[in-house]
Amino acid sequence: METLNNYLSKYKGYVFAKGETTAEYIDSLQHFEIRDSDVFLVTYPKSGTIWTQNIINLICEDATDKTQFPNNLEKMPWLEYREGRADYSLRSSPRFFATHLTPRLMPPGLRGKKGKIVYVVRNPKDNAVSYYHFSKVWAKLEKYKSFENFLEQYLTGNVGGSSWFDHIQEWHSEGDQYNILFLSYEDMVMDLRTAVEKICKFLGKNLDDVAITHVVEKATFKNMKKDPKANYEFIPRDLLLKPQFMRKGTIGDWKNTFTVAQNEMFDQIFKERMKDFPLNFIWDLDN
Ligand code: PPS
Repeated sequence: METLNNYLSKYKGYVFAKGETTAEYIDSLQHFEIRDSDVFLVTYPKSGTIWTQNIINLICEDATDKTQFPNNLEKMPWLEYREGRADYSLRSSPRFFATHLTPRLMPPGLRGKKGKIVYVVRNPKDNAVSYYHFSKVWAKLEKYKSFENFLEQYLTGNVGGSSWFDHIQEWHSEGDQYNILFLSYEDMVMDLRTAVEKICKFLGKNLDDVAITHVVEKATFKNMKKDPKANYEFIPRDLLLKPQFMRKGTIGDWKNTFTVAQNEMFDQIFKERMKDFPLNFIWDLDN
């Protein structure tokens, strides 16, 4: 891995948080055998990963989960980090993984539409603000002097996960090679039940109305924040300095952080970078 600074490394064009994984391990994913029953949750960081992880885990919950997995992270670990866990090939089916990787670093077996991928995208203004706040509480991330400083790095893709633009464009343009369900964070905020129903259908889980209501209730921001298996407060305080994985959970919070000038600059870059990508985003709850 090429060291970029004290916090970041680069490998095969993708920016990783420094020291969290190795080139050898990332290369080994090229031989990672995909099973039909595998479920992957793919996101750019701070796009609603732990939320969707909770929803998928609740939908697919089985009787052994409570004894087998102390929390959502153990049930659905990050593909790119093994963090002392046993080889993922030893896991029994169905296996669940979360990841922030781009298509070219993913196990190639997925391209044959084997396994299932749920991809969640979030509007990049709220995404950037969420990431900035997270950088203050995640010990291994750079502590930026200001949002302005962070935004500069975010827009050049000099953050863990690389560029938001590259991530969503690569996944969307290659989407037809995968068995993939695209969702947006904003749609989930505005109509959680419909999002849960879509995920159920995609995963082939036939939950009745009562079971769906149960998932929706457990996954609301208010309830999930209280759920010790789901709220990530279980991460040790030397890594998560403040238990603030679940911060606001809204659409449009960027308006409290972006200056008018930053917003204009962002809109200009967004227009340029997305000109061939007709994806629509919800930027606040009024539009
Ligand atoms: S990470 O570190 O990449 O796994 O972070 P990620 O989980 O992708 O993103 C964290 C943001 O998701 C929000 N979140 C939720 N929003 C609405 N409802 C629920 N239940 C929920 N759970 C997590 C979380 O609050 C972070 O967004 P911000 O804007 O910072 O609040």
